[in-house]
Amino acid sequence: MRPRVALVIGAASGMGRATALRLAADGWKVAAADRDEERLAGLAEQLEAAGAAGAMTLPLDLAGSAASVEAAVAEVVERLGPPWLLAVAAGVLEGGLALDADETHWQRVLGVNFHGVVRANVAAARAMVAAGEGGRIVNWSSNNAAGGTAGYAAYAASKAAMEAFSRSLAMELGPDGITVNTIRPGSVRTPMLGALTQAEIDAENARIPLGRFGEPEDAAGLVAFLASDDAGWISGADIPLDGGTLAARGRANVQQIRARLAREAGR
Ligand SMILES: NC(=O)c1ccc[n+]([C@@H]2O[C@H](COP(=O)([O-])OP(=O)(O)OC[C@H]3O[C@@H](n4cnc5c(N)ncnc54)[C@H](O)[C@@H]3O)[C@@H](O)[C@H]2O)c1
Repeated sequence: MRPRVALVIGAASGMGRATALRLAADGWKVAAADRDEERLAGLAEQLEAAGAAGAMTLPLDLAGSAASVEAAVAEVVERLGPPWLLAVAAGVLEGGLALDADETHWQRVLGVNFHGVVRANVAAARAMVAAGEGGRIVNWSSNNAAGGTAGYAAYAASKAAMEAFSRSLAMELGPDGITVNTIRPGSVRTPMLGALTQAEIDAENARIPLGRFGEPEDAAGLVAFLASDDAGWISGADIPLDGGTLAARGRANVQQIRARLAREAGR
């Protein structure tokens, strides 16, 4: 089978970069897009060295216009072929208390995490439908979308809105053989969480049933699965990727629970 084309947006860093490299190693043709041109430099060569059947990088700001996103997809179609997989890792994390944040905060966060993802999905899905070969779309949500998050209302709302969009798109694109899913990472070790102190990291680890932060490669593996033939009947899902954090609902400290049960048993 000829190699398929993947367009990864947000590919300069973190989970997007790991995903682009994983798909390259799996033999895909990979188009790596990001607004950070500096960190994109040299990535096409790295993707080829990792095993990509073809690679290109392209500067792209999802917060720009729909026309610029459409032009980027057209460039991918021209140079590598129509994307069969779209993976949108691009996102911004910006805090702000709801009563303090001004309108521009909401616009910045929603502009990328919601409107930007919508632009990318629509432009790439049009190319997939035109190619008539089905396809896969994976959007990065967050486990923040599952509840509320003090200090990050715009972020949580942007991801929840994007999830509802993705589920709706999954319904609309089903007849074309295109699946649409979101992944909901918990805490993953990427530059996005670079500001955490060691004390905060230790406290977070204690809340995660599997006892560690995720690695960017954990996300890459999930995307590789969602892009595989084995995942052809999964669509409209929001898939946790968080070491069990959501399931634990904040009560994951098994050491404490064991100690309490032992105390109770000794009573
Ligand atoms: N790291 C975590 O713990 C975590 C947890 C939950 C969800 N997420 C989500 O996972 C996704 C990937 O995050 P990451 O941790 O790898 O972060 P990261 O900061 O390492 O990478 C994000 C990439 O997106 C790019 N980007 C941002 N705005 C863009 C725009 N307007 N247009 C194009 N590219 C843009 C950045 O330049 C960067 O390269 C994000 O959507 C994020 O919200 C991350």
